[in-house]
Amino acid sequence: MDTSGRLGGMTRSFEKVGVVGLGTMGAGIAEVFARAGLAVVGVEADPDALERGRGHLEASTGRAVAKGRLSEAEQAEILGRVTLTTSLEDLADADLVVEAIPEVMDFKRSLFTDLDRICKPSAVLATNTSSLSVTGIAATTTRPGQVVGMHFFNPAPIMKLVEVIHTVVTEDGLADEIAALARRLGKTPVSVGDRAGFVVNRLLLTYLNHAAVLLENGLATRDGIDAAMRLGVGLPMGPFALLDLIGLDTSYEVMCVLFQESRDRRHAPAPILRELVTAGLLGRKSGGGFYDGD
Ligand code: CAA
Repeated sequence: MDTSGRLGGMTRSFEKVGVVGLGTMGAGIAEVFARAGLAVVGVEADPDALERGRGHLEASTGRAVAKGRLSEAEQAEILGRVTLTTSLEDLADADLVVEAIPEVMDFKRSLFTDLDRICKPSAVLATNTSSLSVTGIAATTTRPGQVVGMHFFNPAPIMKLVEVIHTVVTEDGLADEIAALARRLGKTPVSVGDRAGFVVNRLLLTYLNHAAVLLENGLATRDGIDAAMRLGVGLPMGPFALLDLIGLDTSYEVMCVLFQESRDRRHAPAPILRELVTAGLLGRKSGGGFYDGD
């Protein structure tokens, strides 16, 4: 049996996609695939988390309906393409699975071991990790050549970029096929090697961390720094509003990975971030962070 997944050199067709983890990012990613006409199986760990995922999907597409960007019939069609389940076994016939669970390497490695056992041999396994080693995740499977990073940005239905991360063992041509899929989703792919934070988070989180250090040093206020970067640089959000959008827990975890890799003090997470995370103030997803929740 050919287990290379290349189907005798032919290009794969991605029609059924699994998304594991339906938090802010996973639900957004599931929506993106469903909007592009693909069948989506969304998986969460337990019924409560699954209901929260359903809520994210309904709220995000509902917002588009309220704005007149989507008709109610189109919303129903999109939601109708998404099957929700708590069983990973339902991914057995998926062509591609995108993992979007929390940024904890042990969780990811354990999940990929399960996905490798459950998914058909030709399936591609992708991680939406923000900073962890795709190679380290791939190495837990018997198909490391078919494991890539497919990194979306928050809010996934809106942001146009997908970083496509290849490793030293990624099968020839696979990154190009994933890039073509990203285009089919209406996104622009950028090919990136497997280094902590890839391109965007390596640059962005360094900047966001520095903003938190400046706040702690009393250089300017939260509102002052945010206004400065919006009005002086033309960014859609200042650094603290953006930290709240990304999630302070995710941001902190990415900074820790960057610091561990570089041992460069400039990447050491600002203490205020650790304090807010410890206090459960994670940004928008927890109802408050640097700003009160909306
Ligand atoms: N989910 C889905 N759609 C959303 C949304 C959400 N959470 N938030 C806003 N939108 C949609 C709105 O419905 C609206 O859609 P339409 O244009 O179809 O009407 C559109 O986004 C614009 O929204 P608004 O007019 O309400 O607000 P805005 O113009 O201020 O834009 C924003 C909101 C798109 C979030 C914009 O502020 C922005 O681009 N911010 C920067 C976001 C960013 O940098 N993201 C990357 C973070 S890094 C990351 O994600 C990587 C990682 O691994 C940590």
